Amino acid sequence: MTLIDGKAISAQIKDELKVKTGELKDKGIEVTLAVILVGEDPASQVYVRNKKRACEYIGYRSLSYELPADTTQEKLLELVEELNGRDDVDGILVQMPLPKHIDEKAVIEAISPDKDVDGFHPVNVGRLCIGEEGFVSCTPAGVIQLIKRGCPDFDITGKECVIVGRSNIVGKPMALLMLRENATVTVAHSRTADLKAVCKRADIIIAAVGKAGMITKDYVKEGAVVIDVGINRTEDGKLCGDVKFDEVSEIAAAITPVPGGVGPMTIAMLMNNCYEAAIRHNR
Ligand code: GUN
Repeated sequence: MTLIDGKAISAQIKDELKVKTGELKDKGIEVTLAVILVGEDPASQVYVRNKKRACEYIGYRSLSYELPADTTQEKLLELVEELNGRDDVDGILVQMPLPKHIDEKAVIEAISPDKDVDGFHPVNVGRLCIGEEGFVSCTPAGVIQLIKRGCPDFDITGKECVIVGRSNIVGKPMALLMLRENATVTVAHSRTADLKAVCKRADIIIAAVGKAGMITKDYVKEGAVVIDVGINRTEDGKLCGDVKFDEVSEIAAAITPVPGGVGPMTIAMLMNNCYEAAIRHNR
């Protein structure tokens, strides 16, 4: 059984970006990410701090906008517009969730698709859907890297991939990416009939449902690759995934742990999108 080490793969990607960023700097190009945080949600503060730290590590410039919780939507949209127009800004990230009085959809759609390093803008989702170059949502992009780098001898082409969960941020883009890798894709969800039987067909199972330990060994075929996107907390506050790791790891060919699997990959792929934004912006 292969334990896919997301921390190590994330570090590897960041180190590769660090080298490439040094080469860009020699050409006079500095990658710049603008990070906007509205309000004081503690989890969001941690995420934003980690994103800024990753920028610092790789050698990107980061601009930080920490706005009070009562910031109006109009003010926020003004800031996004200003950053859209700035030639020295490559990527814009608005940390979600936003306070209730702000329409997240309006904010996402205000970001220029060419600076949308989260890959949330409908234009980027559309580009992914028809196979054009664009920004891909970071978590599903990270899953592809986990499989390719964590299981280098495993070929996704032709494999049965079952994705459990159909969110806009994970399940749907995950399906499109797996299709791009030539997998045969099934998107299962809470209304799927006989979910166990559907999952049991999978050579690759990607769990993104948000239910602690829902995927037991009864859902998994022997020798499957199991990717756990879930981040749940047990009653005693411990982090755990959607997959019952102890039993599934006994039959899987490869599996990601929680924590230390998909989680660390999201920032690495965000950093990769920032690099791509700068390359496209300067060509
Ligand atoms: N909140 C939780 N995850 C994310 C993410 O990937 N991007 C943004 N902008 N906000 C988030």
